[in-house]
Amino acid sequence: MDSIQIEGGIPLQGQIKIQGSKNATLPILAATVLIHGISRIDNCPMIADVNAMVKLLQNIGCAVTFENHSIIVDATRVRESRLPKEEVIKMRSSFMLMGALLGRLKQVSLDYPGGCVIGKRPVDFHLQALKNLGITIEEEENSIIAFTKRLIGNDIHLPFASVGATENCILAAVRAEGNTRIYNAAKEPEIMALCQFLNQAGAKIQGMGTACITIEGVAGLHGAVFRVPSDRIVAGTYVFACVACGGEISLLQAPVKQMDSMISCAEQMGSKIVAEGNQLRISRHGPIHAMPYIKTAIYPGFPTDMQSVLMVACALADGTSRIEETIFENRFKIVKELKTMGARAVVDETNAYITGVGRLQGKHVIAEELRGGAALVIAGMAAYGITVVSNKYFIDRGYEDICKDLSRLGAKISVE
Ligand code: EPZ
Repeated sequence: MDSIQIEGGIPLQGQIKIQGSKNATLPILAATVLIHGISRIDNCPMIADVNAMVKLLQNIGCAVTFENHSIIVDATRVRESRLPKEEVIKMRSSFMLMGALLGRLKQVSLDYPGGCVIGKRPVDFHLQALKNLGITIEEEENSIIAFTKRLIGNDIHLPFASVGATENCILAAVRAEGNTRIYNAAKEPEIMALCQFLNQAGAKIQGMGTACITIEGVAGLHGAVFRVPSDRIVAGTYVFACVACGGEISLLQAPVKQMDSMISCAEQMGSKIVAEGNQLRISRHGPIHAMPYIKTAIYPGFPTDMQSVLMVACALADGTSRIEETIFENRFKIVKELKTMGARAVVDETNAYITGVGRLQGKHVIAEELRGGAALVIAGMAAYGITVVSNKYFIDRGYEDICKDLSRLGAKISVE
């Protein structure tokens, strides 16, 4: 039950609806902790990471119920400021509860979230930024204790437009005394969604989506209802599945306006894309063109989370592509698996050079993280023969049901 089997070589056809955004849902669930009341979050993806965040909310005193794809959080009785070690280490996003618990209880203790296969993923930017708000941070060997008598608004200059650090600063600052300005803030759509939810709950945040976010602290927040936007990375995964496999598909409820860099890249690679409202129609019938050079970047650049899936399309392109990874230091993990399938690729510290081949051969490959795992499934769909991708649980962290989605697009795919 923990592998996915694919019979590849079949062009795609069909249509699917895109799930809610994992990376918007997680910080918004953390933000419900700031609210003395009940909030309802609609269009949540039913994925492992969301379940892990819900468990953490329950650990600290929230009452949480599910209604189909809505999650109702009653955070009236949040009391516990200590996060359980095993949950924090299992899911990095639990670190966002640091800002939320500081905003609610003015104290929190938790373990370092640790890195993962794509990088060490330290939290120094988070800790440095939170100290600007008057927070004392005591670091012990593997854990952190943070506390303050008063949260005081202040200017924060982030050394890098870190998504998580921006979110933690927002969560800690919304109930601070006075104003906070975050400079070099992340501009990802998930930050926009978090701020929209918080403003719906009575926060006073401006500048979201720009590099300077201003937060006027408020004494309290009230319950809110909010619909999470669709997941741009899941939608992008299926765009590049069509580039790699060929055929013609439609994505319904796709966050089209957040996908410019991905759409432009897929078009340069030979696909035809028509956007009508929030429906995206992608087709690819001719050759796949190589990408002479593309680099991952912070939003609105090409997302690092799409880099592995792009690599699969490049592996079948008519020439050599160069992908530069500028966000994470170890995000070419799937190259060795793709090479067992017949791909030709060479990597240095930050670049992957992929020379397209006529076809890939189905093999047994092993997923080591979420987006690389999804990319190996796409590779199996484009390859000839049978591919088995082990460690399906990595993929389940971010995709509600990748097998159901892709079978609706014509793939011969099943859980083993
Ligand atoms: C978020 O991770 C996303 N996760 C990631 O998606 C995404 O890849 C990443 O942003 C970049 O867009 C969620 O939103 C839950 P960062 P985050 O802080 O916040 C370094 C997925 O597949 N850094 O913007 O952890 C860090 O090591 C995941 O859904 C520090 O050095 O990303 C990395 O190299 C994977 N110190 C770079 O900055 C810090 O204190 C970007 O990290 C923080 C970050």
